[in-house]
Amino acid sequence: GLSAAGMATPGQSAEAKPGPAPRPAGGFPAGFLWGTATSSYQVEGAVNEDGRGPSIWDTFTRVAGKIEDGTNGDRANEHYHRYKDDIALIKELGCKAYRFSVAWPRVFPDGDGKPNPKGLDFYNRLIDELLTNGIEPWLTLYHWDLPQSLQDRFGGWRSAETCKAFGDYAAYVAQHLTDRVKNVFTLNESGRFVYFGYGIGIDAPGLVLSQAEVNQVRHNTALAHGLAVQAVRSSGRRGTRVGPAENIDACIPAIDTPENVRATEIALRELNASYLNVIMEGRYTDAFLKFAGPNAPKYTDAELKIISSPVDFLGLNIYAPQHYVLASDKGAGFSLLPIPKSFPHMNSDWLRVGPETIYWVPKLAAKIWKTGPIYISENGTSGDDQVRPDGKIYDTDRIMYLRNYLAQLQRATEEGVPVRGYFLWSLMDNFEWIYGLNKRFGLYHVNFDTQVRTPKLSASFYRNVIARNAAGV
Ligand code: NOJ
Repeated sequence: GLSAAGMATPGQSAEAKPGPAPRPAGGFPAGFLWGTATSSYQVEGAVNEDGRGPSIWDTFTRVAGKIEDGTNGDRANEHYHRYKDDIALIKELGCKAYRFSVAWPRVFPDGDGKPNPKGLDFYNRLIDELLTNGIEPWLTLYHWDLPQSLQDRFGGWRSAETCKAFGDYAAYVAQHLTDRVKNVFTLNESGRFVYFGYGIGIDAPGLVLSQAEVNQVRHNTALAHGLAVQAVRSSGRRGTRVGPAENIDACIPAIDTPENVRATEIALRELNASYLNVIMEGRYTDAFLKFAGPNAPKYTDAELKIISSPVDFLGLNIYAPQHYVLASDKGAGFSLLPIPKSFPHMNSDWLRVGPETIYWVPKLAAKIWKTGPIYISENGTSGDDQVRPDGKIYDTDRIMYLRNYLAQLQRATEEGVPVRGYFLWSLMDNFEWIYGLNKRFGLYHVNFDTQVRTPKLSASFYRNVIARNAAGV
């Protein structure tokens, strides 16, 4: 029992009167899947080894001024060579699952055409080592490292040619790896890489396109998702599960009243109209099409069918609250509140602290889309992690953040929201895209000169959560 010292818990004390059966100490459902996550370009390094082709991030990180500290993923965590040690770290935490991504340009150096078996072999080794250690591999097909050749030849995600190449790549991966990989995420965070990469040009490939073109790129990524779902069904082992891993635009009722919750459902559906909603419902909402007007994407009914191929689970990356919602009589039925400057955030300034996000978003998503299982495919925070003179890292801010988010996630599961697992971002500090090595998200600190990994205090915190299968409060 987790009751406070000195307090009798019903049913435990010899003097307890007969009454209702003792309630088990609060916790996550039995079998809840605890994991951590990384992605290929952020940790692997070894960008020129064993026939890997260049990706758009290799190119982009070489453009002066794009990466805050001027670093790139050439070396990163050298995970390509240190994967066995890193898997030992996952095991140390007691995690039962690990989410990693396959680097498309390792498997198809040009994106399409001839596969590179040596590239695939790294994932064979990685998967075997995970299974030997009792850790389930959860594979992401696309975590932003698009083969440069597809960018050069087709304009990357601007073209349906890239979607087709992605479907073929997905089929190849499914054919070779789903004898051991039972769960596959399609694309990671379409919402982020489309807007940042093609809308405002601060992520690879660094383009600033018109709204019409951005909508088309977004549509193409939804199509690529659907093609990958179909590829896993047709080329993977029977029973392989597949779903998205999306940074859903997170809406929260500003105040918990029935009308504001209803308004938040409407907002969540509409704000995610161009990806998750079209995947789940097979159509763009009327409001989206009306708002987009002449900028709406061009598509066929056949594409909508592919896009809405049934998924086995919904993967949600949940960090900051994006929108606090109030009911409104005007127009859409909801209004999005301005966020005050004083709203607290973590070390990354976009990372507002809103633990209730991880309660409301899965709960409302499950209701709106009648989803099957939901997995939190990412959650975590960066921190100003300093190694103290005793060699330790006391990241009490990360612990505060995780403790509060996990308590809200537990609350969701206690209400029956079908969240079945949680992948903490990240196992270890790594290459945080435009911030370079400056933003540390790991449970393990990484010294990027020596490659030494050191557990932060949060690693002990997470190990304890997993061992108790409870968030604690
Ligand atoms: C989103 C991305 O999927 C991941 O690559 C990134 O490092 C984390 N969130 C933190 O920003």
